[in-house]
Amino acid sequence: MTDEYALDTDPVRAFIERVRATVEASASPADSCERLKPAFAELLADAEWLPPAYQEPTADSGMGGGIGQWLLFRALDGSLSFFSLVVPPGAETPVHDHLAWGLVGLYRGRQEEEVYAQRDGALELTERRSLQPGDFYVLLPPRDDIHRVRTTSAETSVSIHLLTNDTGCVWRHAYDPRTGEQRPFRSGYVNVACDAADER
Ligand SMILES: [Fe+2]
Repeated sequence: MTDEYALDTDPVRAFIERVRATVEASASPADSCERLKPAFAELLADAEWLPPAYQEPTADSGMGGGIGQWLLFRALDGSLSFFSLVVPPGAETPVHDHLAWGLVGLYRGRQEEEVYAQRDGALELTERRSLQPGDFYVLLPPRDDIHRVRTTSAETSVSIHLLTNDTGCVWRHAYDPRTGEQRPFRSGYVNVACDAADER
């Protein structure tokens, strides 16, 4: 088995197939992201494909703050993951990186995103933007790999992530935005386990 569909539905399978064909035909990560934009926009505009269970916060969260990270699909070679991130009103993620390129878009609610750059060991806030449902952005490390999102709507926000690693299970970094200090960080998924051999 090379694939894991945690949400095994026709729309998810069709999207992943489209992603793979697009990446195959692309010259670079930036090119892939550009070519994937129409498929990603369609997904964000479709209110039907993501079941309510994958739009629920969770008390037991690797991100903290009740934030739920629900796996939809991953390639078992660690080359691709697709998941929803559910952030309750007023909650925010730690400042974190992803260590992979991909696309992130808002499906429900409203979010504010802060993008950081590393400069001489410190973190500098380079951009702050507000996201409405249907808005999405490209992550292309190292240029814009470090960010934080918070929910600014009265309703829980749900964002959709397509990234070229097993984002919930890889060890990445969370940062103290004031000092730039980083610590190892693994967010996990609510609905599937990571490999216990990788525990730290
Ligand atoms: Fe993120």
